[in-house]
Amino acid sequence: ATNRTFTMIKPDGVENGHTGAILDKINAAGFRIVALKKTQMTTADAEAFYAVHNERPFFGELVEFMTRGPIIAAILEKDNAVEDFRTLIGATNPAEAAEGTIRKMYATSIGENAVHGSDSDENATIEGNFHFAGREQF
Ligand code: CMP
Repeated sequence: ATNRTFTMIKPDGVENGHTGAILDKINAAGFRIVALKKTQMTTADAEAFYAVHNERPFFGELVEFMTRGPIIAAILEKDNAVEDFRTLIGATNPAEAAEGTIRKMYATSIGENAVHGSDSDENATIEGNFHFAGREQF
């Protein structure tokens, strides 16, 4: 069924000038843009968004990284959106990401890995609604 996922081009991807190329790859892969904006997360935003990771050793580093500069946030729509988007971006660690994936092409490390993709339909809804009001979703 047609459904949605949520993505962010992370601060490293924006800083390194990859916004246009990444959006092109998303478009070419057949995703429709439901919502899109450039924004910057506060520390409180990042702590809430990544609350599921708050016991992990890398949590502080993750919050620091995700708040250091602007991101591009987007809701995307396509058949099988969550799974197909995770295929498009590749493994969390760019060293393990398949050839041609967004992380293989644009990520620099497991922490600074260029893009986020929701891991379930339920989280896609939660994460999309975290960043966008209903009236911003088309
Ligand atoms: P993502 O899967 O989008 O959301 C959780 C993030 O935590 C993940 O991307 C990485 O950016 C980050 N992360 C996961 N594992 C590590 C790690 N070992 N060290 C630093 N950051 C990590």
